[in-house]
Amino acid sequence: MDFDIYDIIRKKRDGGELTEEEIRYFVSRYTDGHIPDPQAAALLMAICINGMTPEETTALTLAMTYSGDVMDLSSVNGPTADKHSTGGVGDKTTLVAAPVAAACGVKVAKMTGRGLGHTGGTVDKLESIPGFLTELPPDVFLAQVNKIGLSIIGQTGRLTPADKKLYSLRNSTGTVESIPLIASSIMSKKFAGGSQSIVLDVKYGSGAFMKTPKAALELAETMVAIGRRENRRMTAVVSNMDTPLGNCIGNNLEVIEAIEILNDRGPADLREICLTLAALMVSSALEIPYDDAFAKAEQTLKDGSALGKLRDMVKAQLGDSTLIDYPERFASCRFLHEVRASEEGYISSMNSEKIGAASMLLGAGRRFPDDAIDFSAGIVLKKKTGDKVDIGEPIASLHSSRDKTLHEAENLLNEAITYSKKAPPKEKHIYNIIHE
Ligand code: URA
Repeated sequence: MDFDIYDIIRKKRDGGELTEEEIRYFVSRYTDGHIPDPQAAALLMAICINGMTPEETTALTLAMTYSGDVMDLSSVNGPTADKHSTGGVGDKTTLVAAPVAAACGVKVAKMTGRGLGHTGGTVDKLESIPGFLTELPPDVFLAQVNKIGLSIIGQTGRLTPADKKLYSLRNSTGTVESIPLIASSIMSKKFAGGSQSIVLDVKYGSGAFMKTPKAALELAETMVAIGRRENRRMTAVVSNMDTPLGNCIGNNLEVIEAIEILNDRGPADLREICLTLAALMVSSALEIPYDDAFAKAEQTLKDGSALGKLRDMVKAQLGDSTLIDYPERFASCRFLHEVRASEEGYISSMNSEKIGAASMLLGAGRRFPDDAIDFSAGIVLKKKTGDKVDIGEPIASLHSSRDKTLHEAENLLNEAITYSKKAPPKEKHIYNIIHE
């Protein structure tokens, strides 16, 4: 059926509900270039202002899912689970939760993205392991999942082309912060990834799209509802991104910290969220109670089987797997600069977005999609929110091979940190879990 995009824009502008056919028409005609950017932008703004019903949001998600290839996981010999984080600073949870879930018997066939702006991406972290291939032909990818239970690759160019075009338009038209648009963008990629169980980690706080736990919960509930309408097993965690996750920010620094957790060491905040996400993947895919899944997940850290899965994956994808056992051999930067506390007292807050931006200045991230990154650059936090500090005590170390931006990054890091005389209230890392 043919429609007129002009009528569709006016209908949404006036608060009307779009039909599935109208949404499909818009997505396919915009993706193939027939609808120009200004008209698509007008419709996105109308959606941003007037919202969408659950039926409209699901229709938009499905239209974007089928705008390109959809991964067929029917040849995988076991229950499949995927996880998705809405993005953060120091978020290396995939590098832990995926091997843990695989060690528990879940098949993890995961496609993931690169970092942009202040947030990192799993593909970049994996590429910081020399030789690691993040592009595999589908048959090789599926064979690896069947053999070792785990493969993580970059999203192929043919996956959800509608989302790629729409997301870039949203970025330049002030229409990113819309729950139906974010939910459909994320869920279309999850549907295209093909897994039966999907675990979402929806972040709130200074380093996240959603600034409050309430808004993050609304986004999580919207995505869970879309998935359930399409018969996926859906669970979600709503978690804090006011403070970076763990202590390390930057690509190989984060791989090293993930290896620490897989060795049953490392920061408690990171361990807790990794185990929670892994336990949700396991309980949902294997259909066992959450507490049993959590105990099983914890056991894989103690007996080394999760670390073994990471090692197997790195070997299979031609990365240097000796680094998994000797992480001190990862490449390092030319400069290591200590940042010291400017006040005495307690660290009362750390602005994740600014810390992520400081890490980007050091070379760890990209401002524009085609920027090159330095895999060894980044920040190691020595103190975090709630910690007591003396004036002049080291609070972070900056790793960089760029001497020019070191000073600017230090200023940004100092701006990100506030101090108080009294200890701040303890932060909750996990605000809510939506179980099945
Ligand atoms: N991540 C996505 O993939 N899409 C959005 O719209 C926001 C975050």
